Amino acid sequence: AVSPDYDLSKPLNLGGIGLRQKLASYGDPHFSLFMRKLFIKALGYSEDALSRPIVGIVNTCSSFNSCHANIPQLIDAVKRGVQLSGGLAIDFPTISLHESFASPTSMYLRNLMSMDTEEMIQAQPVDSVVLIGGCDKTTPAQLMGGISANKPIIHLVTGPMMPGSFQGVRIGACTDCRNNWAKFRAGTIDIEDISALNQELAPTAGTCGVMGTASTMSCILLALGLMPLSLPSATAPAVSSSRLRIAEATGTHAVALAKSQLRPQTLLSRESFLNAITVLQAIGGSTNAIVHLMAIVNRHPQVAGSITLQTIDEIGRRTPLLVDLKPSGDNYMTDFHNAGGMLALLHELKPLLHLQAVTITGRTLGDELSSIPFRPLPLGSPLKSIIHPLNQPLYPSSSLIILSKGNLASAGGAVIKASASKDRNLLSHTGPAVVFSGPKDLAERIDSPDLNVTPSSVLVLQNIGPVGNPGMPEAGLIPIPRKLAAKGATDMLRISDGRMSGTAGGTIILHVSPESADPNSVLGIVKDGDVIRFDAEGRYLHVDVGEEEIRDRIEKRKREMREEGARGAAWVTREKQRGYKGLYMREVNQAEQGADFGFLTAAGPS
Ligand code: FES
Ligand code: MG
Repeated sequence: AVSPDYDLSKPLNLGGIGLRQKLASYGDPHFSLFMRKLFIKALGYSEDALSRPIVGIVNTCSSFNSCHANIPQLIDAVKRGVQLSGGLAIDFPTISLHESFASPTSMYLRNLMSMDTEEMIQAQPVDSVVLIGGCDKTTPAQLMGGISANKPIIHLVTGPMMPGSFQGVRIGACTDCRNNWAKFRAGTIDIEDISALNQELAPTAGTCGVMGTASTMSCILLALGLMPLSLPSATAPAVSSSRLRIAEATGTHAVALAKSQLRPQTLLSRESFLNAITVLQAIGGSTNAIVHLMAIVNRHPQVAGSITLQTIDEIGRRTPLLVDLKPSGDNYMTDFHNAGGMLALLHELKPLLHLQAVTITGRTLGDELSSIPFRPLPLGSPLKSIIHPLNQPLYPSSSLIILSKGNLASAGGAVIKASASKDRNLLSHTGPAVVFSGPKDLAERIDSPDLNVTPSSVLVLQNIGPVGNPGMPEAGLIPIPRKLAAKGATDMLRISDGRMSGTAGGTIILHVSPESADPNSVLGIVKDGDVIRFDAEGRYLHVDVGEEEIRDRIEKRKREMREEGARGAAWVTREKQRGYKGLYMREVNQAEQGADFGFLTAAGPS
């Protein structure tokens, strides 16, 4: 057949299907389309296929990424959905990040993945895009890139893994990885047990099976309206047939999106984000999600600035913790799924939600909740305890707290997941600091029999912030010194400028900003023996050092920092770093802004 696209007497209609988008490569748009078509025909497509809406599918499969191991089957199912609905599905790769195989940390590469995602969506002729991700940093990176690219997007998560079993007890990555490792360190389980546990903690493909960052972000994507609510998009296990049907339906939705051209900057409003934060608090979600949410918000030109850490705290004060999952509670994602998952939770949270927020279908959250069939669990079901009713919460409010008062928190804030504290007495605590200057110092001294530490000491870890330790590693879960663990200590107040895995628990203050590598940081001048005062209820974190003494210590530090290799030298030597590391260290902003690159935010370079 003769293609009308080559009729040179007529201007090329650039408003049509994906293949006609952005035909600037060769100056002459007719020739550019001719070239584009001849290369895609090398893949065997017909003119008929190429006349359809093109749905791009972002493939983040990697043989290093067990959390994404089901992606080949998911892509098949998405393609089926697209093709049954009259679209053409074309998958393409972007970076894949797995938590354990992204040295120095996956967070270091999140912004790179967001740039890859944004630019590939921009570059390629797609009418809409299915973003398949799952492992912790992948879904935030994809949404950050997706919002910036602003072509129609829909998310598909790989889904949680199944729990494993050890000696008759269910176990799952990664709350139980940490609990059991702590027991092994304390000598209460032996090397045979820890080896056997290692085989069972991640027994299937999929993301960590508790309310860690991956699960939290899945629930947030659904709350934002970016995954279909009519299916258990956030919670269906990675290895379930339900996950494949979700993938097929996602393909169908993606074709509708290609036609409606509902773009993320239009779909997502301030209200969508308020709903996401309400869900974050109600599920006792990961502290990492706060950093990701701030980065995501700040990519959105109309919402940036209208949501801050304070918004998260304010919503927390009126939102109870309802979902009983590890690490705040006792159960696994499969239980949440079987108890009705996000649809059941959103029904419970309805009085707290902004029902006019738009979802991926183009209908509002309120319309979806009233039209999607929903049958609550029967009375007496053992699963009733997984999603608590609004009036009988697991934790009354403020699962995640933002600290904003006192000299350690008033500048850029700090975060604590109060609901995951093991010793709630520590939520109001005063004690002397035991300071470690970085991960190396911590590793060398934490288990020393000579360490001057008691259970009421406050463990402080410096230099694990975004610039000081690029990627802001999840080292905030400072281990209990072995000599105290052996005597039964399971929790202590711990403070750092780093992050912690969403699957971890304890009384742990994170994301202190400005980070200690910043010469003006108060966290950076805390010394052994300084008295630290913390009060979760008062949102207060303070070190008892006078203002004059703080100024003197800061001046002394600035002098030291000019010496190559000195503590905190990263802050001054970053100008000379080459490659991505140099870009990262020069451009990353602080935790309360999302640890994104300033030039990627909606506001652009500052
Ligand atoms: Fe991928 Fe936990 S390691 S979600
Ligand atoms: Mg994690």
